[in-house]
Order: sequence, then structure tokens, then C-alpha cells
Amino acid sequence: MIARPFGGGKEFALPFQMRTVDLIRKKRNGEELTDKEIEFLVENYTRGAIPDYQMAAFLMAVYYSNLSENEVTALTLAMLNSGRRVDLSDLDGAKVDKHSTGGVGDKTSLIAAPIAAAAGVVVPMISGRGLGHTGGTVDKLESIPGFRTRLSVEEFRANLNAHRLCFMGQTDEIVPADQKLYALRDVTASVESLPLIAASIMSKKLAEGMDGLVLDVKVGSGAFLKRQLEARKLAQLMVTIGRRMNKRVHALLTDMDQPLGYAVGNALEIMEVSQTLQSQGPADLTQLSIELAARMINLANPGPGLEAAREQASALLASGAAFTKLQEVIAAQGGNPDVLNQFELLPNASGAREILSPRSGYVTRINAEDIGQAAVLLGAGRDTIDRPIDPAVGVILERKVGEKVAAGGRLCTLYHTDDARLEEAAQLVEDAFHISAAAPEQRQLVLEVIQ
Ligand code: URA
Repeated sequence: MIARPFGGGKEFALPFQMRTVDLIRKKRNGEELTDKEIEFLVENYTRGAIPDYQMAAFLMAVYYSNLSENEVTALTLAMLNSGRRVDLSDLDGAKVDKHSTGGVGDKTSLIAAPIAAAAGVVVPMISGRGLGHTGGTVDKLESIPGFRTRLSVEEFRANLNAHRLCFMGQTDEIVPADQKLYALRDVTASVESLPLIAASIMSKKLAEGMDGLVLDVKVGSGAFLKRQLEARKLAQLMVTIGRRMNKRVHALLTDMDQPLGYAVGNALEIMEVSQTLQSQGPADLTQLSIELAARMINLANPGPGLEAAREQASALLASGAAFTKLQEVIAAQGGNPDVLNQFELLPNASGAREILSPRSGYVTRINAEDIGQAAVLLGAGRDTIDRPIDPAVGVILERKVGEKVAAGGRLCTLYHTDDARLEEAAQLVEDAFHISAAAPEQRQLVLEVIQ
């Protein structure tokens, strides 16, 4: 406390004036910050009083020094309180959402959410854009001409009331702190931090008015956390934060050692979502989407049990009810639902470059981070905050792990509109594929469940 003279010679203790630089140093030195210090940083960064360069330094200090459980909780709450919370208590039924910690080709939200909504669950979904080498639901949806993800709280509520499912991004109104921090982390190499991921996800989810949450915590070469041990810690942390806030949170640790499905890139992934919702999708994507949807249905209504929820989710996919639900939601948010049947209405790349196998054998490994990074180089993601993305570009895999390929056979195709970084992307993708004479062991898709 600094005592300063104030009026009539009386002395008042004024609050100690915090300085951002001192807080950066404190975290850099591995000390624990107080709730007030964390609130100061988040509040002042959100209103523009702390510049990006200081916040970037703070994020890097967190990356190296970590945060305690108390600090992560304080960060989550400060981010949550940076904007409004959506009150959905007057909507009938349980509100359950799903969120992934980030993967390559990970489009399950766009399949699991319509299945759960078709089952009667209210799904309020606040998502993010692409982050690092991973894609984001908001960017994928915005590749649909006219689709609006910038909604007011009132529009979000009205859409949920009418359709049981609504997608939106962080805005100046809801979790503005995550909107700014997320974009800054994306371009300052501070994404892969367990506490920053936990606070980012949980602040968004707590703001949207959900009662329950299914988390898809990715593990492997395409995930931010490569090892199961770290992913488990992240899952446990988010389940704990949820519990402290009286929310039911179930976390699945799932394999991200190769891209999910075949398509990586925004409009390309919308096409694969459409195929999957019409029962023509890749096996891994279909299986995981059904499992996540079943968990959402089960959280909303545990009575009939998980196996019954799985059967219901599969039936809603097979009957086309989930496909119709996605069409309905696209139309409600300003997009053209015909894109799901007429792919020429989506942005299409002008060039295609095939990557061929140098030898025959089995695909034993596909480094998913390199595939995601190649898509970013083609323009599917950002390397500066204001770089516009190209919704049309990306990678379509022709072979997945365990499949055979002949020498000169196609491994994948790069779709591009600007060839400035095409060679670099092609090199990355070529190196991402490992081909051997012996078939690899099959990996499980769901590795662990934490609840
Ligand atoms: N998803 C988020 O919303 N935030 C992260 O930091 C990572 C994945």
C-alpha cells in the first residue's frame, strides 16, 4: 500500500497501483499471482489498456512457468466476467455442449451437435477460429456463403429457442477476453499451454449457459498436447473447473495421431460433414461423432443409459434427421443450406497438386501437425492476427494409417488458390507420410474417459 497525502493533511491508503511489467516479471519468475492480479491483467487487456506486446510476454511467461489450479480458476473467471453470460434457464430441456481441444480435420462439432439437437438436446455452441495448425468451427462455418457467427446474445437465445442449436464465435459481448487472447496466442506461439487452453475453453463454455459439457481432449501428433499424460491433466483440470461451477463435464481423450477423416481445410471439411451426415462419411469421423453425440444425449438425459444414447445417435444420423437439422440451422444463421448438396456453391480452390508415394507399402504414420501446418501455409489458417484466411484451400488425404499404397500412388492432394507457399506445403506433406513394408498396429479412437 502507498500512503499519499489527501485533502486537509489527512492520509488515505490508496490501493497499490499494479504495473503490468511487474506481473509479467512475477510470472516469469515462477511466482503465483493473486486473483486480483489476474483480474487486473484480463480486464485491462480486454479494454485495450494493456498493449498486445505486454500481453504476449505474459502469455509466454505462463507458457514456461505454468499456472496453479487457483490461478487457472481465477483466469477462467476473469475471462468469463469480461463479457455477458447467456441465461438460458427459461428454455425447456437440458443445455449440453461439446468442445474439442483442437485437432486437424476435426469437424465432429458440426456432426455431433446436429445429432444431439435432433434428439431434443439444446446445444448452445460458442466456438473459436483456427488456432495454430488446428482448424476452428467458426472458420469452417464461415466458409458457407452468408453464414453469420457474429450474433447478439438475443439472436443466440432466439435461435436456440427455435432450433435447439446455434453456433457463434466469441464477440465483444460474450467472452471478449477470449476473443482477444485467442487471436494473440495464435500468432505468438503460446497456444500449447495447458492452463491457457483450459481457461480459454471453460470461459467460453461457462458463458453460454450450458448445464453439461462433453470435452474431446485430443492426444497425438495433431494435438496441442502430444502425450496422454498431459492430455489427461488438461481433462482433469477442465472437469474440476466445471465441477466448481456446478456443471457436469465429461471428457474423452481421443486419438489425434493422424487427421480425422480425409478433409483438412474449411470448405473441404464442410463437404465431408455433409457426406458424413448422409451416412457416406469416413469410418473414424462417423464413429467419433456418434460417440460424442451419444455422450451429449446421455448427459442431458442419463436415465436410459449410454448404450441407448448411442443407438439413438446412430438412428438420427441414419434417418437424415441430423442432416436436416444442420440445413435448418444454416438457413437460420443466414447461410445457404443448398451448399450441403451442391458443393460448387462453396468456395472452391483453383489448383490441385497431387502428392505421390515414393514407394509401395503400408502407411504407418501421418504426422497430423505437419498436415495442419501445410493447410495453414496454403492459407487455411493465420500467421498474423489480421491475415484473412482462404476458405477454399486445404488437403484431402487419399490414404490413412493402415492402408496400402503402390509406388507412385496418390497419398493426398493439396488444393490451393495462391502458389506462393505451395512448394513448402508440399514438402511438409510429403514428409508427413511414413511408408513401411509392415502394417502398423491399429490405434483406438477413444483412449480414456474422465468424469
Ligand atoms: N480450443 C479453445 O477454445 N481454446 C484453446 O485454447 C484451444 C482449443
